[in-house]
Amino acid sequence: MVNHTNGIFVVLKENIKSFGHGTVVNKCRGLQQYLAKAQALLSLHHHTSVPASYNKKISLLYSCFLYVYRNNCSTPIPCMTERPKILVVYYTQTGQLKRIIDNVVGPLQDKVTIVYEEIKPVQPFTFPWDKQVFFDTMPETVLGRPRAIEPLKVDPDEHFDLVILAYQPWFLSPSQPTAAFLQNETAKRLLKDKPVVTLMGCRNMWLNAQEKVKGYLQQAGARLVGNIVLVDTSPNLIALLTVLRWQFKGQKEATKWLPAAGVQEKDIIASSRFAAPLQKALDSRQWDALHPELMELKAVELKPNLILLEQRGISAFGFWSKFISAKGGPGAPERKGRLTMYRLLLLAGIFVLTPIDKVSSIIKLTFRKTKLQEDVEYFKGIHLR
Ligand SMILES: Cc1cc2nc3c(=O)[nH]c(=O)nc-3n(C[C@H](O)[C@H](O)[C@H](O)COP(=O)(O)O)c2cc1C
Repeated sequence: MVNHTNGIFVVLKENIKSFGHGTVVNKCRGLQQYLAKAQALLSLHHHTSVPASYNKKISLLYSCFLYVYRNNCSTPIPCMTERPKILVVYYTQTGQLKRIIDNVVGPLQDKVTIVYEEIKPVQPFTFPWDKQVFFDTMPETVLGRPRAIEPLKVDPDEHFDLVILAYQPWFLSPSQPTAAFLQNETAKRLLKDKPVVTLMGCRNMWLNAQEKVKGYLQQAGARLVGNIVLVDTSPNLIALLTVLRWQFKGQKEATKWLPAAGVQEKDIIASSRFAAPLQKALDSRQWDALHPELMELKAVELKPNLILLEQRGISAFGFWSKFISAKGGPGAPERKGRLTMYRLLLLAGIFVLTPIDKVSSIIKLTFRKTKLQEDVEYFKGIHLR
């Protein structure tokens, strides 16, 4: 049989090799365009071993593909021996996130092809921030109505074994450029059926943003296979003061009284440890063990009191974003009054209520310990409840 129809198999095998990479299912998508050719070859040779019930294009070609490999190949499927290809999608204002990316994927450079897609808002967010613009950015960020971004450079039909989505939270939500990317139709096409690892560089409040990103990825048909979070490990109020100094004055470096802002340098450098499990998963195209292996390397650390703090923040932002945006869009003079109210209350709230919050947190941490521990495990994971 194999000898008799050898011609078919040689031609199919050559075609299959050029069908890009990935799983059998992915390759079958590429195979569709060769249907006509395959059918012609099969009928030419009066090949009858493909059952008539295989009338769907994909089934026919899938069976051809498996047949060819079962009968002709003792070597692994060519796609498995090809160099894995990663797409890294990111936005960064100060360059911090790009440095984190470079450390995480740096050790992979020789073994993996890496393509970068930088998200660019049509109207860039100026850094350092003007205070009024900073606070005025909150409502649309929380409501998921981001500024437009420039068209993506990447071809949505190009094959990638993995997408790394590197992003930062803004106001407990995905930053506007990240949300714009996840809402973009080309991006959705690109993400469909792709394994995705999220990589975050932030102050320390990222839970709600990641929940929203999980939702976007699910809607796009992508599969979240890992999460890595780098945070500023200074005490919460210190991290808040330094991040504001950084965002408003552009000063990241330590001052007499306060440490440097952002993710600690040693943690950025140490993030290269995540390359090993990524490499392993890329080589095998097996994703199930990736997140547990990243967790063993402490890819996500979470203190239960931050869950309580975020829950409070989310309800406050939810209220203010609707209240302010009801008066007009970004920059509208009509919403200035409400914006000022929110600014003053937010700052007073943070500095006055934080000590009170601390006491109520201690009480909750004592009496709701089991539930909070469950929440910690959930947020460290990659599933959406
Ligand atoms: C408008 C704005 C809001 C932010 N809100 C949060 C937040 O809710 N949670 C958090 O952990 N970090 C927050 N950050 C810090 C960012 O997540 C990020 O760490 C920092 O802006 C540096 O990122 P870059 O790589 O874009 O420069 C905020 C930053 C900005 C500019």
